[in-house]
Amino acid sequence: EKKREKYWMGAHELTVKLYQHVLLNTEEGKEAREYLENRGFDQNMIERFQLGFAPDSWDFLTSFLMRRNYDMDEMMEAGLLARREFDKKPFDRFRNRVMFPVWNRDGKAIGFTGRILGEGNPKYMNSPESSLFNKSRILYGFHLARPSIRKKNEAVLFEGNADVISSWRAGIDNGIAAMGTALTDRQVKMIKRNADKVLLCYDADDAGQNAAYKNAELLEKAGMTVRVAKMEEGLDPDDFIRQKGAERFRNEVIDSSLTYMGFKFRFFRKGINLQDEGNRIEYVEKVLQEISKLPRAVERDHYIRQLADEFNLSLDALKQELIQNFKARK
Ligand code: UTP
Ligand code: MN
Ligand code: MN
Ligand code: MN
Ligand code: MN
Repeated sequence: EKKREKYWMGAHELTVKLYQHVLLNTEEGKEAREYLENRGFDQNMIERFQLGFAPDSWDFLTSFLMRRNYDMDEMMEAGLLARREFDKKPFDRFRNRVMFPVWNRDGKAIGFTGRILGEGNPKYMNSPESSLFNKSRILYGFHLARPSIRKKNEAVLFEGNADVISSWRAGIDNGIAAMGTALTDRQVKMIKRNADKVLLCYDADDAGQNAAYKNAELLEKAGMTVRVAKMEEGLDPDDFIRQKGAERFRNEVIDSSLTYMGFKFRFFRKGINLQDEGNRIEYVEKVLQEISKLPRAVERDHYIRQLADEFNLSLDALKQELIQNFKARK
């Protein structure tokens, strides 16, 4: 089994080089070069993240691997090639896509995520699940970020590979992505073995913020300290960097991130009209409930004060309520 995975990884390594060659040196790669340039992906980013291009062909990679005597069944199992339904013949799985290699923790390529040039569906296509490519165990960019994650005792977790790459250009070298909004226990463990802190930097849309809420809880439960970045609605980290620049990203997003509790307050406030008394009471109750879960009295006190100040409420009344309704430890 180990031998088989080595064989697959060897094929992946060659394919990374082939796609990179197409991107950098060929006429077929011109449109992708322009696409990346327009997105602000420069030569350094292309090299560090080994970006490439899969040409618009059904048999480009297939015939390349065949010429090198690679076993076609194995290549289909490995996910580099797909299998034609009616005669089971192999063909190129990735066509006309910008290719982002995905690596294991040793930095060996084990799969790809391919992005369409411009608009279209699906926007990203991943290698199929296999014994080698198991998305629930992968953190994109992990082997590159790991030294910095350990040094800073913190990982920055993004949704997408593009966010990892752009933020690296913006000076964030401890960024990784779970390639989407799902986060598994396995991935949490991987992070936890290297750092105590996580900064969640998800997209500022409903999907991203709901996932931040869920994953922040998961990470806190695993004993990690979580901060959550905030951005204006509609942007993701890569958009922000492109529109507002690296310095503002570091100052206004990374360095101004919220504590876990601060994020929750903000999260609960969404869709609530604080001018409306019913809404306001509902919000205060929710926040009190969160405060009651805090293990330390000083922390509870800190947030109670914050809440009292914010709504001009009596501190004593809030404390009383916390003790009575939520059975907070005294
Ligand atoms: P997003 O949906 O946030 O990507 O998905 P995006 O920001 O719009 O993409 P760009 O910036 O235009 O290129 C975040 C991540 O979720 C996974 C990918 O790993 C992606 O980077 N994803 C997304 C998929 O696997 N498939 C999809 O169709 C979409
Ligand atoms: Mn999207
Ligand atoms: Mn998203
Ligand atoms: Mn995004
Ligand atoms: Mn994006």
